[in-house]
Amino acid sequence: MRTPLIAGNWKMFKTVAEAAAAVRQLGELVSGVTGVDVVVAPTFTAIHAAAQAASGTRIGIAGQNLYWEKEGAFTGEISGGMLKEAGAAWVIIGHSERRALFGETDLTVNRKIGAAFASALTPIVCIGETLDQRERHETFDVLDTQIRQGLEGLTGNDLVRLVIAYEPVWAIGTGRTASPAQAGEAHAHIRTRLRQWFGADAGDQCRILYGGSVKPENIAELIAQPDVDGGLVGGASLDPKGFAEIVRKARPA
Ligand code: 13P
Repeated sequence: MRTPLIAGNWKMFKTVAEAAAAVRQLGELVSGVTGVDVVVAPTFTAIHAAAQAASGTRIGIAGQNLYWEKEGAFTGEISGGMLKEAGAAWVIIGHSERRALFGETDLTVNRKIGAAFASALTPIVCIGETLDQRERHETFDVLDTQIRQGLEGLTGNDLVRLVIAYEPVWAIGTGRTASPAQAGEAHAHIRTRLRQWFGADAGDQCRILYGGSVKPENIAELIAQPDVDGGLVGGASLDPKGFAEIVRKARPA
């Protein structure tokens, strides 16, 4: 049985004060909601304050990225240990915006997963196809490559310590959500591959989130798909009330 997970990716939004206030409000709104894990990913500068605001609530804090070295002359980068110290327990890796705008590849994703494990952070590993790739019917091939290369060298024991987020790039920030059938089909494919490549038990235990224009209005039909275990929410995670509604609607029936 996989516990649903709703994670909010705040991207480059919210000041330190805004992030802490949002976490406090969210903590109250979801305090009575059981059976769903809740995570938010503030900017690096807001992680410490957000983690303090989250203490005593059921909200986990995630980084949006990390670098794989522990420390050194890497201007502008943050290590897993630094995220952990600031109060994060999770980290998003390989988001499509990082891949498209900042040159990340499956190889860097792979190194970052290792670094996250080394700092006892739970990776949320993002994969997903572009619109061009979907229209050329390459979706499954793209996902296979991202899984194979991104997760290279990992064992079944590793797989159950991470979360996959399927985020079709064409559905991110566009208001164009994958239909429940499209999401269900992609998730089933990912699950099949995880079972084949990491063993049936590990493949069955690994949570696979859907991301791309998730809202209070569509989370229920998405999470009703058998292999959809939650959501990675961008825009709709910025408003604590709406995000709390998504969390409530993700409760197991
Ligand atoms: P939106 O929910 O704004 O489409 O963003 C999705 C996303 O990129 C989450 O990581």
